[in-house]
Amino acid sequence: PIPIIIDCDPGHDDAIAILLALAHPEQLDIRGITTVGGNQILDKITDNALKVLSFVNADIPVAKGAAAPLLGKLVTGEVAHGESGMDGPNLPASKFRPVEQGAVEFMLNIIRSSQEKITLVPTAPLTNIALLITAYPEVKDRIEKISLMGGGLSHGNVTATAEFNIYVDPEAARIVFESGIPIVMSGLDVTDKAAIFEDDIVELKRRGPVSVMVGELLDFYSIYGRKMGYVGNALHDPCAIAWLLHPELFQSEQLYVTVETEGKLTRGMTVADRRKKPEYAANTEVLLDVDRQAFIKLIFDALERLDQQ
Ligand code: BDR
Ligand code: CA
Repeated sequence: PIPIIIDCDPGHDDAIAILLALAHPEQLDIRGITTVGGNQILDKITDNALKVLSFVNADIPVAKGAAAPLLGKLVTGEVAHGESGMDGPNLPASKFRPVEQGAVEFMLNIIRSSQEKITLVPTAPLTNIALLITAYPEVKDRIEKISLMGGGLSHGNVTATAEFNIYVDPEAARIVFESGIPIVMSGLDVTDKAAIFEDDIVELKRRGPVSVMVGELLDFYSIYGRKMGYVGNALHDPCAIAWLLHPELFQSEQLYVTVETEGKLTRGMTVADRRKKPEYAANTEVLLDVDRQAFIKLIFDALERLDQQ
């Protein structure tokens, strides 16, 4: 299996990404989970991660990371994810606790002690990853790739041009995109197409406990979607995991991508350069489309597997 670290801010869709990974132990070896302030403040989203793991009895180490972006104050996703960061289901308190180590040291240890290179899967602002590779640049060679959810070439969701995870910490995102580590970007171009619709949510709630819990998550998540006039509920973060499991479900383009940190209208925008210049050789596989039905089936099957455990 591919050794991975999931860096997240659960977050409704982060929770589903974690569950999707947990359901595939033969393909993904989750070495740890790190958390970062994003959808809600750090303590809340860390608690959410632990609750999700506890719900499915998965004793995976969780390390707390950065509470705030590299510069300035944290902007949370409370409008979409609620006061807890994962409103909806009434989850029992977690039986697990975070490890003592902070996220950066925790990732560093895993990367240094692993025989194989580690794949990072960030589904949140890139603060922890930027701190890691800035403080310990030598680990870059020990990172296989970064399959991240963030950005979007055609549009944003916080502003016209910026997607939430990049918008919250554009400086960190820029460091990561310019790091030289191969990146697979599940941005809004693809994740908005990875949508789940009302009928599917109803069906989930007829199934076992994990599916029902996800159905309840999606009930809350869809309130914001309806308010915003979205067609379906985009399962953003699970795309970063789904690509590792089934890359053949996605269409992509290799491009040079970096992040705007200054523009008045464009701070936090992911910018692709299509000029054929050697200095802008592709650093990112940008996912652009997905077989939506197969993707939703992958999620359903994963939850069913967890229901049967
Ligand atoms: C991203 O922002 C967060 O609210 C979601 O969890 C996802 O990671 C989508 O823009
Ligand atoms: Ca997220």
